[in-house]
Amino acid sequence: MAGKVRAKNNRTIVLNDEQKAQLAREIAPAPDAALFPDEAANRVFQGDCMEIMPRLPDGFAAMALLDPPYNLTKTYNQSTFRSRSEDAYRDYLASWMPLVKRLVRPGGAVYLCCDWKCTAACFEILRQHFIVRNRITWQREKGRAAESNWKNACEDIWYAVAPPEDAAVFHADAVRMKRKVIAPYRENGRPKDWSEEDGGKFRLTGASNFWDDISVPFWSMPENTDHPTQKPEKLIAKLILASTDPGDLVFDPFSGSGTTAVTAKKLGRAFTAIEQDLDYCCLALERLHRADADRTIQGYEDGVFWERNTHSVSSSARLRSGTEANPPLT
Ligand SMILES: C[S@@+](CC[C@H](N)C(=O)[O-])C[C@H]1O[C@@H](n2cnc3c(N)ncnc32)[C@H](O)[C@@H]1O
Repeated sequence: MAGKVRAKNNRTIVLNDEQKAQLAREIAPAPDAALFPDEAANRVFQGDCMEIMPRLPDGFAAMALLDPPYNLTKTYNQSTFRSRSEDAYRDYLASWMPLVKRLVRPGGAVYLCCDWKCTAACFEILRQHFIVRNRITWQREKGRAAESNWKNACEDIWYAVAPPEDAAVFHADAVRMKRKVIAPYRENGRPKDWSEEDGGKFRLTGASNFWDDISVPFWSMPENTDHPTQKPEKLIAKLILASTDPGDLVFDPFSGSGTTAVTAKKLGRAFTAIEQDLDYCCLALERLHRADADRTIQGYEDGVFWERNTHSVSSSARLRSGTEANPPLT
């Protein structure tokens, strides 16, 4: 990871051995006894989530973000997850979903990420433990075109809640999207539901379950790491803002580079993260430190999500995030 030759403007977070050794001291070891909520909060645990989850407190999470390995052969630094039959993948999901269920409070939200290949198994296992409320499709536009099949350009995120459903929170106002107006209609000479700002005409629209406004993290973005399946902060921010309140705790048992924990912190929520790989735990901790100085979430500003490529991030936010010379595609 550290040995790659990178372009001049490449902002990928890379840690040297000394930094890793320093950060590794902050990783929480797998607990050997049950933890109280304040012992579990705002920590990155290293270990197998199936062994750590039974030590976490009942109902301590307002939201769980589940981004497990998909049913593909994929190497995560030191370990490789192997693709398996659909039945075996279903068994894999079924082996840990009940552990998650105990940790989510009544009405708490559960988001489960997957691709087209494992979405059926995810839906089936999720609905055995939670009330499924929706499926978000994220058009993520990454990956090579396949010659013998359609290019895989989207992912699913299943949205479910722990019963009872009427205890669920959903803050539609917190996840509105600012879109460019194609046909700026006027009524009595006045703009109808749109406004003119930053040299463009924009409308605030409610978030739907089709997301085409979020790119994967790429090398010129300050959140980027070498984790092979890192989720964008903007995507996680939408989920957290819709389903939690400030101060709530967001739980992520497959934390990877720490996107959920970092985004939760930036938005004033608590977090508990579990990741098996030491290097990824270090990346998460480095990102959490950086979040102390910079709470910017690319593509989210002034309480709204900006449509991709609208280039409306204010210069102050760009300066804060250091992207002034390299305006972001959000
Ligand atoms: C799809 S990635 C998650 C990426 C993450 N959302 C991010 O933004 O970086 C899945 C992660 O789960 C980790 N993992 C897989 N099995 C695990 C287990 N049993 N316990 C803890 N971590 C695990 C992998 O090392 C990998 O980093």
